[in-house]
Amino acid sequence: MNILSELKSRFRVVLGELVADPTELLGMIRPAQDAKFGDYQANVAMPLGKTLGKPPREIATEIISKLNLSDICEPLEIAGPGFINLRLKDAWLAERVNHAIGDERLDVPLASEPKTYVLDYSSPNVAKPMHVGHIRSTVIGDSLCRALRFLGHRVISDNHLGDWGTQFGMIIYGYKHFVDTAAYEAASVAELSRLYKLVNQLVDYHNARAKLPALESELASRMAAVETQRNQVSTGDKAADKKARKELGKLEAKVAEATESLAATKAKLAAVERDAQLADLAGQHLNIATDVLEETAKLHRGDAENRQLWDEFLPKCREEIQKVYDRMGVKFDFEYGESFYQDRLAGVVEEFQKHGLAKESEGAICVFLDGFDAPMIIRKKDGAFLYATTDLATVQFRMHEWKPDAITYVVDHRQGEHFEKFFAAAKLCGYPDVELCHVSFGTVLGDDGKPFKTRSGDTVGLEALLDEAVQRAYAVVSQNDDAKPNGPELAEDERCRVAEAVGLGAIKYADLSHNRTSDYVFSYDKMLALTGNTATYMQYSYARVNGIFSKGAVDIEKLRRGGASIHITEPAERALALELLRFSDALGDVVEDYRPNQLTNYLFELSKRYSQFFEQCPVLKAEEQTRDSRLLLCDLTARTIRQGLSLLGINVVERM
Ligand code: ARG
Repeated sequence: MNILSELKSRFRVVLGELVADPTELLGMIRPAQDAKFGDYQANVAMPLGKTLGKPPREIATEIISKLNLSDICEPLEIAGPGFINLRLKDAWLAERVNHAIGDERLDVPLASEPKTYVLDYSSPNVAKPMHVGHIRSTVIGDSLCRALRFLGHRVISDNHLGDWGTQFGMIIYGYKHFVDTAAYEAASVAELSRLYKLVNQLVDYHNARAKLPALESELASRMAAVETQRNQVSTGDKAADKKARKELGKLEAKVAEATESLAATKAKLAAVERDAQLADLAGQHLNIATDVLEETAKLHRGDAENRQLWDEFLPKCREEIQKVYDRMGVKFDFEYGESFYQDRLAGVVEEFQKHGLAKESEGAICVFLDGFDAPMIIRKKDGAFLYATTDLATVQFRMHEWKPDAITYVVDHRQGEHFEKFFAAAKLCGYPDVELCHVSFGTVLGDDGKPFKTRSGDTVGLEALLDEAVQRAYAVVSQNDDAKPNGPELAEDERCRVAEAVGLGAIKYADLSHNRTSDYVFSYDKMLALTGNTATYMQYSYARVNGIFSKGAVDIEKLRRGGASIHITEPAERALALELLRFSDALGDVVEDYRPNQLTNYLFELSKRYSQFFEQCPVLKAEEQTRDSRLLLCDLTARTIRQGLSLLGINVVERM
């Protein structure tokens, strides 16, 4: 049962007599901040006091007299100005946990109104290997998919692969000019990604050279502004000087900014120029930036050679990416990449024009949207379609194919404006009702607080990252095993299996446990810590419960089915039981705003309650009835951890 929903539905009846729509008020029924105020708290009387013009305590008394909660709660109490405190009955808690024992779903109900969701996540550009930036979309999307499905919703996962963009122009150009045939024969994708990097670097080089004079003059003018401002800071007038110094600070910061971007640009140039071979290539390929665009355009126009190369490259690239998904346990129902929509793009533009929603402006076809300064371009002057055009075609297709209630895009925050515009355009063009949602997320940072890069400044490949996590997990697992009082328990192959689960779990959990909208600092040490809010700790807690069963030679399946039950007597038992029953609340919080960290927070809270219980309540040494009851609490905890982790895409291990 979802406790919060149950409480809300009881309140709804009573509040509905006082106001027309109690929905907002129901949001004020929450778990109590402090256990001394009970388990849940309803802060509805204060706002009602304002609306109804009566003292809140009076309203609270009236609500209580009408509420029918005596089966679930102890008599309700009013505190302070009118808080209603709810304390669940021990007997009711026991009844619910006992029900959970025999319930595969751990007493988590299915959604009363199941919806159809299309989840668009991961969606890498496939011409280059997956890198650290792809973790977030992949694991957040995957866990949302799992949670929504667990709650009974229909979820269609669709990996919107970038398989039709400029990156292909890059590898096509690279292949035509720089391929090392032997290397390509031996390891195609590695060679293609070398080509991608090379072409990208040369394009960057020429762009940087083109930008250099502008950057230099920008810096000079900012420095001049600082010089001028310096003369303003010691006029003798205290207030004016203070203001001038503040302004000087701002101008200096702008100089620092310009210095930094000039330095970064010069570094790019130097990296090519100090390498004779690269410098030579740069000299030979002066127009590479436009030529690469032309290769992409040719592909889009159906040029036979480019099309044939694309047909050859694509399966190889996808296979490489698939390896990463397999390892991470991530599956998609569909992988309609951008290329799938190529034939539909002209139709989208026509439709917008037909309905008078798009206009020509300087040769381009634009959708002008209320509330935005710049229009959304859906066809460029040269006839090329854009990312946004494909996204519009994708909405049409998805609506037609699956009739979803919601389409959810798990994509990093830098694309925020794209999604705002594209959603507005999609609403205009025939889809006013579907819920379109951008589940945005922040950046993975290195120790230096900047986007996570390798020492040499390259992006970090996802496979290498997973490998390293597993390697480090192996060390943690081995150390832990070696230190066991009766000597190591795990054979080599088991250590490897455990290390894989722990390493991948650590990466996923670290990502999911951060509020998705914040950036976070990537740290192997933190994510693999055996204590704290980590997957390792959760997996360890799970294995420890299993350890109790083996130590006591307990047949837990049998106990589960054999009619033993949970009795709540100790406060620590009660606290644990209550937390176990909050699993459903936590999942509700996850899907409400697409936030998997609500689940990691919950699991961490649960394992803390479990530790307290385990410290305060002997299990194997207790007399039989208590022992069975406590074993069942242990079992429910382990099952809840396992289920919770599985909704995060993380495996447990029986021993570690
Ligand atoms: N391929 C895009 C990128 O790497 C992300 C696509 C997200 N999904 C979408 N429907 N736009 O930036």
